[in-house]
Amino acid sequence: HRHAIILAGGSGTRLWPLSRSNMPKQLLALDGEESLLQQTARRLLPLVRADRVTTVTHQDHRFEVMGQLHAVAPALADHVLAEPVGRNTLPAIAWAVAGIARDDPQAVVGVFSSDHVINRTEDFHRAWLTAEPAAEAGHLVLFGIRPTEPATGYGYIQADRPLMDGVEAVNRFVEKPDRPTAERFLEEGGYYWNGGMFVFRADRFMALLARHQPALADAVTAIAEAGTPPSGEAYAELPNTSIDYGLVEHADRVAVVPAELGWNDLGSWEALYQQRGKDADGNVCQGTVLTEDSRNNLLWGDDNGSLLAAYGVEGLALVQTRDATLVCPRERLAELKQMVARVREEH
Ligand code: GDD
Ligand code: MG
Repeated sequence: HRHAIILAGGSGTRLWPLSRSNMPKQLLALDGEESLLQQTARRLLPLVRADRVTTVTHQDHRFEVMGQLHAVAPALADHVLAEPVGRNTLPAIAWAVAGIARDDPQAVVGVFSSDHVINRTEDFHRAWLTAEPAAEAGHLVLFGIRPTEPATGYGYIQADRPLMDGVEAVNRFVEKPDRPTAERFLEEGGYYWNGGMFVFRADRFMALLARHQPALADAVTAIAEAGTPPSGEAYAELPNTSIDYGLVEHADRVAVVPAELGWNDLGSWEALYQQRGKDADGNVCQGTVLTEDSRNNLLWGDDNGSLLAAYGVEGLALVQTRDATLVCPRERLAELKQMVARVREEH
């Protein structure tokens, strides 16, 4: 039986000042009418029953998430797990899988991020279906995206040989390598980026968890058996680790479905600039924007309708929100991280 898990608990610091702790990226409509979370849920529904989709989020966002999901399909809102504290993706996935495995150990589970853009829905469905026979045979299946630059924010998958139709066996998985390592991987060739989506059989995931994260396996099994949400103290004691570092790097029988999905994880303002449609001068404009003699800018206006006017500027990112404005040359957006951390502490 096919199940899906949507991860919707990220805090989204990378699109500051638009994404904030009270409104992370996945809950925003960055690309179209619906939020990224809603687009994610809608993309799954042709292949999975709404009552077999579990969404995991932080308790602060629980009602916003339920409301957004309800608008897509009411049954989606009935299966939202609210974490008392964020402990990264492995505890979130493990909690959801433990619940599924309790009732249906043979379930084939797909795990999806709530904050990505996927432009090619049919290719996404094909990739998911291609992954399932390998998952049924006991593999932990990843989706491999062709890398375009030595990015350090992704997992790298080294595939080694064909395994099944459309599936390759994975030799090695390295989460977020440093720049020289990523450059070496690209030169060597044969590597994919990890798309942040996973397909596996529920019982096989629990067995892997028991081997590599035994305390977490015991804790989530107990939570699933109790059938009540964990206390804040209990949840805070779970290891703070991602599925990538905590499991995939150590697992055997990992496989990858190479998939060109028009995938973009919108992990930065620059990624959003690349993704969005541009005007004739290469500007991406959101909201009420007036430009003259201005080229290749990202001009993101406040949604209250106030006018953003740009004159004679080039290669700039300007993001205006109710209580904060960011101005930065587009080519230096990657350096923002530390400043944003400082803003968060001081303001
Ligand atoms: N419920 C819950 N709880 N969800 C979370 C939590 C949490 O504590 N932390 C993150 N998430 C959600 C995010 O909202 C996002 O949808 C997804 O889980 C992935 O988390 P990120 O924090 O965005 O991961 P990443 O981008 O650094 O890395 C992952 O994705 C890359 C592709 O975008 C890894 O899987 C990489 O290997 C991969 O390349
Ligand atoms: Mg991400």
